[in-house]
Amino acid sequence: MGACDIAKLSECVGQEVMLQGWVYNRRSSGKIQFLILRDGTGFAQVVFAAGEVDADTFAACDRLTQESSVRVWGQVRADARAPGGYEVTGRRLEIIQIASPDYPISLKEHGVDFLLDHRHLWLRTPRQVAIMRIRAEVIKAIRDFLDDHDFTLVDAPIFTPNAAEGTTTLFEVSYFDEKAYLTQSGQLYNEATAMALGRVYCFGPTFRAEKSKTRRHLMEFWMVEPEMAFWDLDQTMALEEELVSFVVARVLERRRQELAVIGRDTAPLARVKPPFPRISYDEALALLHRKGLDLPWGEDLGAPHETAISEEFDRPVFVHRYPAVAKAFYMKPDPERPEVVLGADLLASEGYGEIIGGGQRIDDPELLAQRLRENGLSEEAYRWYMDLRRYGSVPHSGFGLGIERTLAWIAGLEHVRETIPFPRLLNRLRP
Ligand code: 4AD
Ligand code: MG
Repeated sequence: MGACDIAKLSECVGQEVMLQGWVYNRRSSGKIQFLILRDGTGFAQVVFAAGEVDADTFAACDRLTQESSVRVWGQVRADARAPGGYEVTGRRLEIIQIASPDYPISLKEHGVDFLLDHRHLWLRTPRQVAIMRIRAEVIKAIRDFLDDHDFTLVDAPIFTPNAAEGTTTLFEVSYFDEKAYLTQSGQLYNEATAMALGRVYCFGPTFRAEKSKTRRHLMEFWMVEPEMAFWDLDQTMALEEELVSFVVARVLERRRQELAVIGRDTAPLARVKPPFPRISYDEALALLHRKGLDLPWGEDLGAPHETAISEEFDRPVFVHRYPAVAKAFYMKPDPERPEVVLGADLLASEGYGEIIGGGQRIDDPELLAQRLRENGLSEEAYRWYMDLRRYGSVPHSGFGLGIERTLAWIAGLEHVRETIPFPRLLNRLRP
């Protein structure tokens, strides 16, 4: 008999099944052994009754420590009181391994540093499993959306010779006898592939040596970056709100149970529908001023500012036309007001802050060369990038959506450290 997934027990009521998994918890009343088994697909209660199984099987249950691996055979019953709604009446037990009795993650509360030290085991707990499943759903939803909108996935390299987002946050590595950096963003390469394929996206890990210890910062995070030839800022914001709304709706449709495990209030998510409000940076400063949070014109919004802005809206909000001085070298100035750029950040609702950054790119070769000089970036190193403006330059736009910040918001998590299987934080490279 092949193993039955716990998630599929509902299809097996009345039948004999074999489950294989790990003992999450066990208690015994003397006459009855209650095992909570987890198999990766779910959690189920298995009950062995002293009178109904042989004495050896019953005694074997007593040896089972937390996380012991087993196979059990038994009959599936619907039982509203059982966790998950089904219970298996055990008949036979095969022990694969008795886990060492010192399993560090007990069912009581642990401090977060302890849990992070044991991330390889912490991942087995119901909340972490639910988060990882929602993460996979978010990624699949993004890819489905872009693939269905005629985008082609074209991946960018991870070893790069140039900075995309400023030189201060680069991780340097040695590349034989040269210096190289881990990519901060696939954008510059996307601009090349968009000129070849029209609408593209890359999706992969990106790296930032940001000495920030906040609930929003990882040193290694995953970003999806669409880039579109001939698109302007307005078209780009329209795509962003469609994409984000689609992803949220997909998670609500397919991952309700996981959201419930985490305890996420889904009412705010149900409001995430286009159109999202759009405010300019100047309007954002005025709003902040009214809330007693003054920011000098020209400075980028910090986390407290983003939180204060997003609290004013019931869905994500775009802030567009930031001062050029606050943003990356490639952002196209607004022809009507060159001190601001045709860029926008999308701030998630409920105080979560920026989940997307993007906008229109400079398409004029002279201006791009000037910006490179102003930013101390060598024209030689960016020669290939300049070629994109020499040979058939067109208006184009794109954006980057951070998977972990988006997931932290959708799942309602306090900190991004739980959104990635093995977080890389300022003070944490292990496990
Ligand atoms: O705003 P950023 O820096 O934009 C870019 O990298 C552009 N080149 C993207 C593009 O236009 N193709 O980063 C984009 C997003 C942020 O909005 C945020 O969601 C995420 O990446 N992000 C981080 N997530 C976790 N930890 C960090 N340290 C992050 N830095 C950025
Ligand atoms: Mg940004």
